[in-house]
Amino acid sequence: MKNARAFWNKSAERYAKSPIRNESAYQKKLAITQEYLRPDSSVLEFGCGTGSTAILHAPHVREMVAIDISDKMLEIAEQKARDAAIENISFRRGTLEEVELAEASFDAVLGLNILHLLEDLDATLARVQGLLKPGGVFVSSTVLIGDINLLLRLVIPPMQMLGLAPYVNRFGKQALVDKLIGAGFSIEREWQPGKATVFIVSRKSA
Ligand SMILES: C[S@@+](CC[C@H](N)C(=O)[O-])C[C@H]1O[C@@H](n2cnc3c(N)ncnc32)[C@H](O)[C@@H]1O
Repeated sequence: MKNARAFWNKSAERYAKSPIRNESAYQKKLAITQEYLRPDSSVLEFGCGTGSTAILHAPHVREMVAIDISDKMLEIAEQKARDAAIENISFRRGTLEEVELAEASFDAVLGLNILHLLEDLDATLARVQGLLKPGGVFVSSTVLIGDINLLLRLVIPPMQMLGLAPYVNRFGKQALVDKLIGAGFSIEREWQPGKATVFIVSRKSA
């Protein structure tokens, strides 16, 4: 985790400047997510990065808590929120397990481009279950390292050794779906903008 924090702190400026890779897929994910948000929703995003998505959803909900392990990412996110005059996001530093949050207090949890970066996915999914209100939704978008082409997969370990890539979990789509179901979620919506990415809306039972 210490390594992950150092990696993402080092990457924050570059990440903030990098363009969205697939704008139409991003817009579709925002639109689907907003179908599940209400003006009185309380929303948690973990691994919020530089806050772009939280800032877009915040005007449509009552409050957002946005957490990330990287102070550098959060500095950029907080500045962007101030620039956008968004006042209902509370930014907190840490992992989902570290940050103190009330059980069963969120209507929606967002985990975008983060699940494949976690060393203990089961622990995180259990925590998301605990933090959601009954009937709450978990919206995730995940890179399926197990489903990317072999050449790219082979490049990851040397890049990690050079500090140019973070830890990644190598599950494919079915393994992720199985883990969500195993954690008690039902899959409500599943969309693959490409072979190696999956966007899933899953629900905690009411
Ligand atoms: C690939 S970026 C995604 C950022 C944002 N969600 C997005 O979709 O653009 C991953 C983010 O997760 C954060 N991160 C990595 N591991 C984390 C963990 N265990 N808990 C919380 N945040 C984490 C990183 O600091 C980084 O900001």
